[in-house]
Amino acid sequence: MNLSVDIIVGLQHGDEGKGKVTHHLMRCGDYTHCIRYNGGCNAGHTIYHKGEKFVTHHIPAGVFFGVKSIIGPGCVIDIHKFFAEIKMLKEGGIDVYNNIFIAKNAHVIQEKHINTDSGESKLGTTRTGNGPCYSEKYARSGKRASEYTILEPFLIDMYEEFYFHNPDAKVLCEGAQGFELDIDWGDYPYVTSSHCTVAGALANGFPPRSIRRVYGVAKAYETYVGTKQFQPEQEVFEKIQWAGMEFGATTGRQRQCDWMSLHHLDRAIQINGVTNLIINKLDVLEEVGSWKVYSGKDKQNLMVFTNRDQFSQYIDHYFCDLKVSFSDSPHQI
Ligand code: IMP
Ligand code: MG
Repeated sequence: MNLSVDIIVGLQHGDEGKGKVTHHLMRCGDYTHCIRYNGGCNAGHTIYHKGEKFVTHHIPAGVFFGVKSIIGPGCVIDIHKFFAEIKMLKEGGIDVYNNIFIAKNAHVIQEKHINTDSGESKLGTTRTGNGPCYSEKYARSGKRASEYTILEPFLIDMYEEFYFHNPDAKVLCEGAQGFELDIDWGDYPYVTSSHCTVAGALANGFPPRSIRRVYGVAKAYETYVGTKQFQPEQEVFEKIQWAGMEFGATTGRQRQCDWMSLHHLDRAIQINGVTNLIINKLDVLEEVGSWKVYSGKDKQNLMVFTNRDQFSQYIDHYFCDLKVSFSDSPHQI
């Protein structure tokens, strides 16, 4: 048995560009499987495939390359949106036949979950029924995918798949949301309901020794969607919002912006055991012409750099144990 697993984790508040990184690694790597390991249709992954823009919510990016794509047991599924997504992919020319699977022990979002999540929310959820579905899962009154006949053609048993049929599988795990939204590590209660860390990926049925690389994804500045006050009142953040097109892929809401915190980033890197760090959207700070990071604990000690090189060299140095990549484009790394 030679199962090997690479994991993509978000290091901030989601929307770091994990979809793009998954798509890139899928194109370059020799993966046999791509697994979404947490969350549901609260996520929105923006992917450019052969010049076309796709926004996926459930289905992992392996599907763009004919690689077996599994919605893992750590996820929750909205059946209606799942089928709508398949239709959208098909219409976009993607071969979905025999490529999309759902772990039979993943949970299903029900009408009542969406209703409960749809009122005024003090957290500013995505109103997709995620939280209530996970609540029921843990209250042990939820419903698993295996209970729905309509999902039968897609069902897969993770144990049989990886320990019986494909013991030499090369898996890429695609995360949703990010460390600062993790149910345990985020700023509770301003968090999502799932585990957004490497531990969340392993809970889908992979042993720790199978981990090869952990790709941590961050943006050159931070964004957050939800009700708490996050963005400082300065014009520069409005510029970043526009230059970075910081509007939610799922809800269309404006994302609040702030400078990146190295202290927070470091915490997310340590706890996830990141080996490769990807910092996205340097082109946005270039356009705005401002390069700053908080270097102290929490959001103190604002450091100012004069240009991109100074900024990236400092970060490269700060995380000298890691392989750090910087990206200036929504299409590639
Ligand atoms: P929920 O996950 O819909 O319950 O929302 C809880 C919090 O997580 C809210 O602040 C959402 O805006 C945020 N959230 C959930 N999913 C995402 C995501 O994919 N990107 C960014 N924020 C998210
Ligand atoms: Mg997103």
